[in-house]
Amino acid sequence: MKVTVVGAGAVGASCAEYIAMKNFASEVVLVDIKEGFAEGKAMDLMQTASLNGFDTKITGTTGDYSKTAGSKVAVITSGIPRKPGMTREELIGINAGIVKEVAANLVKHSPEVIIIVVSNPMDTMAYLVHKTSGLPKNKIIGMGGALDSARFKYRLAEALECPISDVDGMVIAAHSDTGMLPLVSKATRNGVPVTEFLNDEQIAFVTEETKVGGATLTKLLGTSAWYAPGAAVSVMVQSILCDQKKMIPCSLLLDGEYGQSDICLGVPAIIGANGVEKIVDITLTDAEKEKFATAAKAVREVNGDLKV
Ligand code: LAC
Repeated sequence: MKVTVVGAGAVGASCAEYIAMKNFASEVVLVDIKEGFAEGKAMDLMQTASLNGFDTKITGTTGDYSKTAGSKVAVITSGIPRKPGMTREELIGINAGIVKEVAANLVKHSPEVIIIVVSNPMDTMAYLVHKTSGLPKNKIIGMGGALDSARFKYRLAEALECPISDVDGMVIAAHSDTGMLPLVSKATRNGVPVTEFLNDEQIAFVTEETKVGGATLTKLLGTSAWYAPGAAVSVMVQSILCDQKKMIPCSLLLDGEYGQSDICLGVPAIIGANGVEKIVDITLTDAEKEKFATAAKAVREVNGDLKV
């Protein structure tokens, strides 16, 4: 099955690389507006195939969306990434126009496509695609929760001084420095609540470092991160293409779930061949419910800047 990745920058190329390395897609098409760039990245990646042992064919095109026709999944990474000191929300002006146009081009050539939105501000860009693409709501998925949960697990394992494979946890709500909600109450080490091992101060540190995970990397790298975003996308794409029905927190259009409507926010969902198979409504503590509502209010304000 064919996957398109729009934007051949660091995030898009990492998505393509991780998808190919896992060898579950027949083809990955990279699209970029910069002349020759996607073609070059695709060729470089294809030259790793014999070394890394994958059969996925990677091709590149400079803006020719006819090459993306028949994609089962398309990933939108286009737009500008944030620079140190910038919030994701500050990117809305430029990225909204780009994301809207990219989504329209994708749907034109692949009317059945499932779109994964990575461009920031991600929750608002996912909402924009819902408002403008004409796709049903199960076919538009914002990537954020999968990445933020991976960062949460990284910080938990660091605090617990244990391997990451011992740890489980989820981040929901907004993909923003203030609106992320790491679900400490549900996080475990081998099924044992992490609150059995970590004190309040350690938990506060883990939570705060998770929320600013992207900003920390942007400061270190001078631009936003790419390996973990690419890996998170590859997990989502695999769950769709292989109909794995994994439960993944991602930004979805809510219709009453978690007390919210007409907004995209991170919630756990079953991701399979139909895209969003089901939103999973879990019980939150009162404090978590309040944080979720606060995050929703902030995202709604950013959505208000969209001209849709
Ligand atoms: C990050 C970007 C992808 O959090 O939003 O690294």
